[in-house]
Amino acid sequence: MEKIVINGGHPLKGSISASGAKNAVLPIIAASIVGTGTSIIKNVPHLDDVTTMNTLLIQMGVNLTVNDTTNVEICADNIHTPRAPYETVKTMRASILALGPLLTKYGTAEISLPGGCAIGARPVDIHLKGLEAMGAKIIVENGYIIAKAERLYGCHFHMEKVTVTGTENLLIAATLAKGETVLENCATEPEVIDLTNYLINMGAKIEGIGTPTLKIQGVEQLVGCEHTVIPDRIEVGTFLVAAAATGGEITINNANPDDLVVVLKKLRQAGAIITTTKDSISLNMHGKRPKPVNINTAPHPNFPTDMQAQFCALNAIASGYSIVTENLFENRFMHINELIRMGAEIKIAGNQAIINGVKNLNGAPTTATDLRASASLVIAGLVAEGTTEIFDIHFIDRGYEVIEEKLNQLGADIKRVNF
Ligand code: EPZ
Repeated sequence: MEKIVINGGHPLKGSISASGAKNAVLPIIAASIVGTGTSIIKNVPHLDDVTTMNTLLIQMGVNLTVNDTTNVEICADNIHTPRAPYETVKTMRASILALGPLLTKYGTAEISLPGGCAIGARPVDIHLKGLEAMGAKIIVENGYIIAKAERLYGCHFHMEKVTVTGTENLLIAATLAKGETVLENCATEPEVIDLTNYLINMGAKIEGIGTPTLKIQGVEQLVGCEHTVIPDRIEVGTFLVAAAATGGEITINNANPDDLVVVLKKLRQAGAIITTTKDSISLNMHGKRPKPVNINTAPHPNFPTDMQAQFCALNAIASGYSIVTENLFENRFMHINELIRMGAEIKIAGNQAIINGVKNLNGAPTTATDLRASASLVIAGLVAEGTTEIFDIHFIDRGYEVIEEKLNQLGADIKRVNF
């Protein structure tokens, strides 16, 4: 077993480079199923979730090799088992992203129904309704989604909620469907745009990129191609918040400031001096204590829910009151109790965390509960007086590439310890 041990009080200083985006590479690897021939996906981060997705495709019969540190070569021409088993899906909900690609290319898919996860019920009803609108016959039996379609056909489908993976599943399915598909109320996250660019590079005909309405003309075949994954804006945002919380000064290279407009605005409100170039972001806190900032999560281009837990840690030591409102997931405040154990003064009322910033947090043994909650605990440990231990750190490894190495590079006293 491993835990992370942090001795707090060191302002982060220096520069690091962002890794490829987890939430872009997962749909892109799944989408490679629809391509004929080989795709080479570049700037792939070394994350447990990526390994899980790679393993899922290999189990199906996809010829997939990690051909050097960050590139993955994929050929999905000979899939023999269009199935995502329970034991894989239960470890990674994003396995649902295999449904659309398998159905549109092979006419059949058997995907274990993703259960909920720590942060919420995470239903996939919109995914299924959209595929049925395209002509799929879907039953749910013994915990599996069993989907069949001679050939999907185009449709006009309005998603009742903005769903990132729902948009991605239906978009991929539409690329090989017969005729025109119009998808309304689509997610417009940068990761959805990156997937769209990959599909277009494979020969897909998609209009409305980056807007809530996507129009797709189905084609007969898509051809594998090279694609470089965008930088991970949530990893970048997490490190910027850590630097702000510790009063430090960092630069993140290979980062796109256009993907973090609202997050950078909130960091400036908290007192950070931020300068950007087209592919880097620098933050200087000048040793100051952060000012409190109110947060309201909502689909892109609003404040990203995946940055909510990190800002709770920042607000926990800010000079005043703040309110953090979580509007997407029903249970995304599990980091709060752990922050309270470190001395934070926070009250939960429904989907709001009311935070009274304190001058100092105290190091403590803590437990991670989900990916972004674990990032919040790392940030709290970096600012706390004394030693913080974080258990159940497998959550961190799902979404952050060698987080302790990058933080060490920035002067943090953090290590991974076997126990
Ligand atoms: C994606 O999850 C991300 N995961 C999540 O990142 C992110 O938090 C979330 O989008 C919101 O931005 C990946 O991209 C792999 P949703 P996703 O479908 O697509 C409701 C992280 O930390 N909904 O956008 O699964 C749902 O209940 C992870 O990196 C339905 O009602 O989330 C929720 O309230 C966590 N029916 C809302 O939509 C559906 O069929 C958003 O969920 C689908 C969704």
